[in-house]
Amino acid sequence: MPNKFVLNETSYHGKGAILEIPNEIKGRGIAKVLVCSDPGLVQFGVTKKVTDLLEGAGIEYRLYTNIQPNPTIENVQSGVKAYREYGAEGIVAIGGGSSMDTAKAIGIIIANPEHEDVVSLGGVVNTRNHVVPLFAVPTTAGTAAEVTASYVITDPENRRKFVCIDGHCVPHVAFVDPDMMSSMPKGLTAFTGMDALTHAIEGYITPGAWELSDPLNLKAIQLVAKHLRSAVNGEEEGRRGMAIAEYLAGMGFSNVGLGLDHAIAHTLGGFYGIPHGKACTILLPSVMEFNRDYTGEKYRDIAGAFGVEDALNGDLETVKDEAIAEVKKLAGDIGIELSFRNDIREEDLDAIAEGALKDACAGNNPRPFTAEDVKTILRGLM
Ligand SMILES: NC(=O)c1ccc[n+]([C@@H]2O[C@H](COP(=O)([O-])OP(=O)(O)OC[C@H]3O[C@@H](n4cnc5c(N)ncnc54)[C@H](O)[C@@H]3O)[C@@H](O)[C@H]2O)c1
Ligand SMILES: [Fe+2]
Repeated sequence: MPNKFVLNETSYHGKGAILEIPNEIKGRGIAKVLVCSDPGLVQFGVTKKVTDLLEGAGIEYRLYTNIQPNPTIENVQSGVKAYREYGAEGIVAIGGGSSMDTAKAIGIIIANPEHEDVVSLGGVVNTRNHVVPLFAVPTTAGTAAEVTASYVITDPENRRKFVCIDGHCVPHVAFVDPDMMSSMPKGLTAFTGMDALTHAIEGYITPGAWELSDPLNLKAIQLVAKHLRSAVNGEEEGRRGMAIAEYLAGMGFSNVGLGLDHAIAHTLGGFYGIPHGKACTILLPSVMEFNRDYTGEKYRDIAGAFGVEDALNGDLETVKDEAIAEVKKLAGDIGIELSFRNDIREEDLDAIAEGALKDACAGNNPRPFTAEDVKTILRGLM
């Protein structure tokens, strides 16, 4: 089977990228849009940076803010209603993964109303029609939802998050502007940045990885290693580097898949509402350790991307240790404690392991895993 690669039609990068939004919207003959952005972003004036541009260009919009972190089925369904009531002709998504994923789901349902239940979008789905015109502006440097062919929705009743994989959901245009990320507090910068690193590492070692995805993921690892500490300190150069890194990782992983880390992280998000980046980070060194014998020479490249001196020629097992140690060191340096001590309950472990096995990312892990493996990893972190 040939390899498939799906990306945005157009993307803008760097300071001032958002200034292109009005042209892109008007150029497509669109007069009114639904703006999807969560309440925190509206409150802190992040959303306004874009809505001011819409107003200046005479583009009508209505704000939709019923979006919570780990967005729910209800967040999507009420957004579909808002889109129809307003008679919008497209969506501008401003936010982290939660705002962008909600917008993707809304836009897919408007174009494919047979999926109004939302749940039927879970897994790999071949919808008939492309999402409605969708313009995505990330405000975190992490998920890369502005370029990925997937979105993640929470089903609170069943305490689960489900991944929806659909080439039709990729936003038409992405505006990756580090200024939109500059208001992130330290902790959010750290967790979302480590989410980007997790994407790049899982995307690099997944069995589906190939020549087109490898350079994207590897460069992303290198940029995270170089820039995340400085981004967490609020430095402009670090923000710029992380904005590129998260997008590179998004292009890479979206086209090859993730693995065990994300399978467990999604389940923990559904169970306890643990922020996605936090779950990914805490799991990453343990999952790398679990996968180490199923990755050929790839940990050499990861160690090299972190600047480990003998990465190329050193003893492979030692280099693998060094790659994992670099990830732990980075997490420590940016203030993340690698522990779920107060987050997970022993009595939930069976159900969590079952959820991880069913997750859409499970099949892409280089090493097959069992429920017992998931429980062992989590017990090691509790
Ligand atoms: N679609 C994908 O490919 C993909 C990939 C990974 C994760 N996800 C999903 O994305 C979601 C997580 O997204 P996220 O980590 O970007 O966080 P988020 O969108 O959930 O945002 C978390 C919090 O940060 C705040 N915030 C965001 N940007 C800010 C800024 N610039 N300044 C100040 N506050 C800001 C928000 O208001 C919110 O309260 C999860 O549901 C996860 O499953 C999707
Ligand atoms: Fe992620």
